[in-house]
Amino acid sequence: MKTVICSGSFDPVTVGHVDIITRASKMFDKIIVAVLNNMNKRVCFNAEERVRLIEKATAELPNVEVTSFDGLLADFAAQHNATAIVRGLRALSDFEYEFQMALTNKKLNPELETIFLTTRLEYMFISSSIVKQVAQLGGDISSFVPECVHDEILNRLRKD
Ligand code: PNS
Repeated sequence: MKTVICSGSFDPVTVGHVDIITRASKMFDKIIVAVLNNMNKRVCFNAEERVRLIEKATAELPNVEVTSFDGLLADFAAQHNATAIVRGLRALSDFEYEFQMALTNKKLNPELETIFLTTRLEYMFISSSIVKQVAQLGGDISSFVPECVHDEILNRLRKD
């Protein structure tokens, strides 16, 4: 059974994230969405909330499990017998950071691969930071986040 990890901060989850998770779920037996619980990083949604939002947005995908993690992703992957980390690549600008993470994870866990899925053209500009900025400034985020979690995300971000 091939288990892979879709890792990220997901603060909050976007349609781009869900697209990558959905596509990965068709390629592998089991997907573990690993949500970074980093006490040092300022986030709008705590880890529990981020996990719940992704669970809601991926409820129709039976082979997807969502959990938070802290510590090294390479260790988390080994603990869950994952063969690879799946990451979405939006643009060339993502590449340097992704390449550095992939090489670090390979060094830490030589058995672990990193697989990149290119984003869909229509999601290329979408990121959690853009969602936060647009919502906080009163803009429409309905095409940026999954419909089932839109109101929850908007209500929280508008209050911040
Ligand atoms: O959505 P993001 O913020 O680009 O995701 C980054 C994430 C969570 C995948 C990355 O920061 C991570 O794996 N953090 C865990 C700590 C770790 O393993 N660091 C070494 C490899 S970079």
